[in-house]
Amino acid sequence: MSKKIAVLPGDGIGPEIVAEAVKVLAYLRDEQGLDISMAEAPVGGAAIDATGVPLPDSTLQLALNADAVLLGAVGGPKWEPLPHAVRPERGLLGLRKRLDLFANLRPATVYPQLVAASPLKPELVSGIDILVVRELTGDIYFGEPRGVERLPDGSRRGYNTMVYSEAEIARIAHVAFKAARGRQKKVCSVDKANVLETTELWREVVTEIGRRDYPDVELSHMYVDNAAMQLIRWPRQFDVIVTGNIFGDILSDEASQLTGSIGMLPSASLGDKYGMYEPIHGSAPDIAGQGIANPIATILSAAMMLRYSLNEPVWAERIEAAVSRVLDQGLRTPDIYAEGTRKVGTAEMGDAILAA
Ligand code: NAI
Ligand code: MG
Repeated sequence: MSKKIAVLPGDGIGPEIVAEAVKVLAYLRDEQGLDISMAEAPVGGAAIDATGVPLPDSTLQLALNADAVLLGAVGGPKWEPLPHAVRPERGLLGLRKRLDLFANLRPATVYPQLVAASPLKPELVSGIDILVVRELTGDIYFGEPRGVERLPDGSRRGYNTMVYSEAEIARIAHVAFKAARGRQKKVCSVDKANVLETTELWREVVTEIGRRDYPDVELSHMYVDNAAMQLIRWPRQFDVIVTGNIFGDILSDEASQLTGSIGMLPSASLGDKYGMYEPIHGSAPDIAGQGIANPIATILSAAMMLRYSLNEPVWAERIEAAVSRVLDQGLRTPDIYAEGTRKVGTAEMGDAILAA
């Protein structure tokens, strides 16, 4: 049966970079017989301009009826004066919530051609291939009670609550173990079990599931403060890192910067039923409309979509290999440019990847 892809370009460079990923997908559809269809809808600021709200019902319905969502980025200075509740970013949060996308997958890989772009020494970064699996719908970001209260002495006190149910921990653990099976079969679960009871439960549940269902995968545990340190000290020790929402927020940003270039890094957000794929960067208003944005993160997001939602792992690998080949050819968008390489724009980079 034909697989439906909802294409949501969004704002800023979103439409420019998504167009290049769509080029690749259209080629697979038209020339390689892949049974997919694509339909586009506005989200974020583009949707506010067209309909008054960041996530119009028609866009939500398109996403709910699709097998996968490809998203560019949302937001920009034009909509910053708006109150938080109606900003472009709400469109994205609304999609994550309505599609119940509880697993955020962020690979951090370093292309050997770009090792010099990392802030770390080449011998530390070359060969990095980490997948951060972050739980996205629970933890201290959503726990109740929360708030800021006034104490009898007149001073204020703020509080949030860290909460994870066994079921929530189990479902993200399964995602991590399954992902590890297709990689180096190593999972490092990150927690703060020495201090926080919630994460003590996290460690127990992950351990039970690993022992019972994934004896072939090597499981280790690390406290989050040590994990933050180890990511800088010796990043190659990691394969899959699985962790909760708040630790994952911080560690996934840290891991992404090891590779040095935000325009290169894709992501997937998965639920039981849906998958949404987007570059990790934002709408880059400073370079929007100039045709110079790096489309690789978005094209690699489409590759993740082929792998996780469309059951086309071979095409995913071919796209990833094509990106590597184009880097070998010395083509670079300005964000990854270095002396001795050839500077190209967004469309030329997309065309070169398609050709490769
Ligand atoms: P940003 O990621 O948009 O840009 C940060 C820097 O990286 C800028 O200098 C930009 O030019 C550069 N950059 C980003 N992507 C690039 C690419 N593909 N090629 C070349 N250079 C690239 O983050 P910033 O500036 O903090 O946010 C801009 C807007 O994007 C804000 O409205 C923010 O709310 C929104 N945003 C949206 C996200 C999303 O849709 N998932 C995520 C992060 C920010
Ligand atoms: Mg973050």
